[in-house]
Amino acid sequence: MTQKTVEAHKALGTSGLKVSPLCLGGNVFGWTCDEAASFAVLDAYVEGGGNFIDTADVYSRWVPGNKGGESETILGKWLTSRRARDRVVIATKVGAQTERGTGLGREHILASVEDSLRRLQVDTIDLYYAHYEDPKTPPEETMAAFDSLVRSGKVRALAASNHTPQRLTESLEASRRGGLARYTVLQPEYNLVSRSAFEGTVRDLCEREGLSVVPYYGLASGFLTGKYRKGQPTPPSPRAAGVLKKHDNARGWGVLEAMDQVSKRHGASLAQVALAWLGAQRTVVAPIASATSPEQVRDLLGAFRLRLGEEDLRALEVASSREA
Ligand SMILES: NC(=O)c1ccc[n+]([C@@H]2O[C@H](COP(=O)([O-])OP(=O)(O)OC[C@H]3O[C@@H](n4cnc5c(N)ncnc54)[C@H](OP(=O)(O)O)[C@@H]3O)[C@@H](O)[C@H]2O)c1
Repeated sequence: MTQKTVEAHKALGTSGLKVSPLCLGGNVFGWTCDEAASFAVLDAYVEGGGNFIDTADVYSRWVPGNKGGESETILGKWLTSRRARDRVVIATKVGAQTERGTGLGREHILASVEDSLRRLQVDTIDLYYAHYEDPKTPPEETMAAFDSLVRSGKVRALAASNHTPQRLTESLEASRRGGLARYTVLQPEYNLVSRSAFEGTVRDLCEREGLSVVPYYGLASGFLTGKYRKGQPTPPSPRAAGVLKKHDNARGWGVLEAMDQVSKRHGASLAQVALAWLGAQRTVVAPIASATSPEQVRDLLGAFRLRLGEEDLRALEVASSREA
């Protein structure tokens, strides 16, 4: 770390990992960021004190001409070129549809981890996620396969993403019964305009089971940065149409209004308010956000100098509790 612009790294629950309070999202590498732009974003993030990078085997397969694995490949090249392996915590995922297959069966996991290790150019993945639950595979099989990766040193800690409380409970039970490594982290979608799926049963379960939460879409794909405004021209992002389809509604615009007030009070950007709000929520250790330029990265890292007060939290709570 060359600059201390974010607060000290903190324990990621019982995973044994220590992470910065902002996790950098990697779905833009090979999508809205080419290799050079991705390197610039990664450099700025590490220079600003970040150490936690999130990717997946499937990123960015949705781009015409891509096969999946592009994000891991770019990240692997950057790790090697910057000799950065020991300075960062690398999270990746298995389970989405790739060229190799899909799901959380033993064979698929064991083959996919080798693909990820090769593309990332590392010997160990710090945090390995089940990207989606797999109703066709018994959790005992999935957890035994993951456990073998932890025992062999290919993976340090395990995590789940997009899991229902029921499947998460079954998976934790399978680990307990079999004396196997367990999930220590959950990655749900969670932000100021998407709260209901996480708050309640899922969060209660995380608290009960001591799982740390690393939410994705911390900026609602860019909506919560304030660059989308009602009646204004759409920003020039390839993601713009999807963002507006989801958030062009009464709750979305109401949340932005409340964020504007908080932002003025603190002289902070809207993106900083969005991430500081997430950082203040129970169970959340490090929200994930991606960036497409070093300027965006520096803005995001500034979130962790912002402390929201009671009045701020109350205003954001009211606006984000409205119907969409
Ligand atoms: N587990 C899962 O199923 C899952 C699903 C989705 C995402 N994820 C993870 O979560 C990460 C974050 O999700 P995401 O990247 O889709 O959405 P996000 O973090 O909510 O939004 C990021 C986008 O907002 C814009 N932005 C960022 N900082 C900005 C700033 N300071 N000012 C203005 N605009 C800014 C950038 O897009 P533009 O410049 O193009 O506007 C950036 O790509 C992903 O990279 C991935 O690692 C996981």
